[in-house]
Amino acid sequence: MISFYFCVLVTSSLIWEIICTSSCTVTDVKSLVVGYCDRLTGLNLTSVGGTMVNDHNCDVLLPKQVFIEEPVFQYPMADTKKFYTIIMVDPDAAPRMEGEFYVHLMKSNIPGLALKSKDNSKTIGIYYRAFKPPTPPRGTGAHRYISLVFVQRDGNNFLPTLPQMRSRFMLSSWLRGKNLCGPVAGTAFRAQF
Ligand SMILES: *[C@@H]1O[C@H](CO)[C@@H](O)[C@H](O)[C@H]1NC(C)=O
Repeated sequence: MISFYFCVLVTSSLIWEIICTSSCTVTDVKSLVVGYCDRLTGLNLTSVGGTMVNDHNCDVLLPKQVFIEEPVFQYPMADTKKFYTIIMVDPDAAPRMEGEFYVHLMKSNIPGLALKSKDNSKTIGIYYRAFKPPTPPRGTGAHRYISLVFVQRDGNNFLPTLPQMRSRFMLSSWLRGKNLCGPVAGTAFRAQF
């Protein structure tokens, strides 16, 4: 945690390169549920119908049908030498316990090269949990759908222990010891019944 704050405060890019890229910083995911649009940036989601979610409209309320299929993920700042994991979670799914999420997508080994370009993030990577479209139940209000991008510290050798279920997934504890750094980018939208 100390190194995380240090890395946030350091403005010299050279020092940042030396200190902050050598260690894997993991942000407490629980804390990202508040103020995530300010802290998670740089990721573009595009639906099959062409609706885009990015830094300009993060947290936008959309009809749930918009993301009936997996969106294309684009991370323009992706490092072409690295591999990434994308996780999409809903923190508002029942039973709405703090730190627990419903997993809508978990996909690993996505080459940075593909994430940089707009067209092919859907056909590459390994699905650990295939995309499940938002289905917020009636009467539960707007749910948040937060997409997180992590860098795989071990290149494309990332083979995680899987969450047992999509529901009640404790991302913070699952991330421990996983060699996933970040999230380095993200964005979110909301949808309701
Ligand atoms: C991605 O989103 C940014 C805004 O956050 C926008 O400027 C950029 O054009 C988008 N990229 C693509 C390929 O649409």
